[in-house]
Amino acid sequence: MTTIDYESKIPNNVELSSDKRLQRALEHWLPQYLQWWHEMGPTDFETKDVYLRTAISVDSDGWAQFGHVKMPDYRWGIFLAEGNKDRKIPFGDHMGEDAWQQVPGEYRNWLRRVIVTQADTEPASVEQQRLLAHTAPSLYDMRNLFQVNVEEGRHLWAMVYLLHTYFGKDGREEAEELLERRSGNPDHPRILGTFNEPCRSWLDFFCFTMFTDRDGKFQLLSLAESGFDPLARTCRFMLTEEAHHMFVGQTGVGRVVQRACEVMKEVGRDPKAVREQGAIDLPTLQRYVNFWVSSSNDLYGAEVSSNSANYFGASLKGRAWEEKKYDDHTALEQSKDIETWDGKTLSHEEVPLRNAMNEVLREEYIEDNQKGINYWNRIIKEQGVDFELRLPNRRFNRNIGMYAGYRFDLDGKPIDEAAWKAGESAWLPTEDDRVYIDSLMVKVTEPGKFASWIAPPPKGINGNPLDFEYVRL
Ligand SMILES: [Fe+2]
Ligand SMILES: [Fe+2]
Repeated sequence: MTTIDYESKIPNNVELSSDKRLQRALEHWLPQYLQWWHEMGPTDFETKDVYLRTAISVDSDGWAQFGHVKMPDYRWGIFLAEGNKDRKIPFGDHMGEDAWQQVPGEYRNWLRRVIVTQADTEPASVEQQRLLAHTAPSLYDMRNLFQVNVEEGRHLWAMVYLLHTYFGKDGREEAEELLERRSGNPDHPRILGTFNEPCRSWLDFFCFTMFTDRDGKFQLLSLAESGFDPLARTCRFMLTEEAHHMFVGQTGVGRVVQRACEVMKEVGRDPKAVREQGAIDLPTLQRYVNFWVSSSNDLYGAEVSSNSANYFGASLKGRAWEEKKYDDHTALEQSKDIETWDGKTLSHEEVPLRNAMNEVLREEYIEDNQKGINYWNRIIKEQGVDFELRLPNRRFNRNIGMYAGYRFDLDGKPIDEAAWKAGESAWLPTEDDRVYIDSLMVKVTEPGKFASWIAPPPKGINGNPLDFEYVRL
């Protein structure tokens, strides 16, 4: 089961050839997918050879192979983590029952919604990033962008496989709509807000892969616990790919920080002086962090939510590391202390734990984000520079949940509109910031060379040197 069948048109480890009807349906979707990739992917680089990794097994050790491929020839496919036929549902009202190999009829709509919402983010991010290669700071970075892109494409395949296999006609319709919505399109947008935000520069890209792909990690962790076994197995394998996306974000920002510090040691901390050297000053980086963190915080939904209670109760969506981390998996008797905001005052309230599952997941996410911030602050400290990056408070700049529509500063203190107006340009990227960042975005294509605003990484990919031709232009 772990070996991947690369002979068939659609590589897979789900014995696709034994289900002719499904195989035909997916082979029908394949050219539509390729057409979407051709229109909305990194189109201008379709003829270039890119040094990509491709999954060859779903074992954790040695699952990938590296080689130069043209992106449209990438072997997208369907890979599920190894199954365990004795698996029991680990949480919720169905805890202890055999894991479902088919969709339980009573939860069909909820499950479809969960899958479609996850699926929609995958092509969305490819669309958001489609022009970035034109301004890549190095071939190394350009290749990482393309690696992320093809894997998001594969994640779409993973979700479409579930829709086609388990949801009949409406699943096939959903799969088609996934190729029709467009990131940022006012008439036909992607489902979730962050996935309609423009990813205009590489600083946006690194913040996106750091903070928004990390939301993906936590959504996948909670779905990897699902009682619906094909979804759990799909998400477990996606998580192994997702780790690379966050590596790109965390180290990408880390290299921006490194470069800024090197410059600050020469010219001091005045942002203007740092900019004159062609680097990104840390206050500007902080504003980009604030924007992407606050937008990604919204992706977890409302703090108190009946949907989250329903999904948990129905054993569809658990907590991150549900089996490993918790003793009680019913969450029926427990409550959670939640911060509340009535538009005037902050206080606390005990809510039934199931209704607080969005907040439980968001807290895990915030904790993980903090580790990334700490990593960057260590770089700053090692450089001997006096500056600290921070996470904005979760109440800052929210559009979903109880804080939406109100103003809070970076510490989460409620403020009025005048104070917001006075602080906004220090907290969120200004048009001036964006124009400056855009001006730095110039493509560097000589192998081993890097743009002025980013330090080289400590090592290349898969043991190759930094001046390896990661993309043959
Ligand atoms: Fe993904
Ligand atoms: Fe991702």
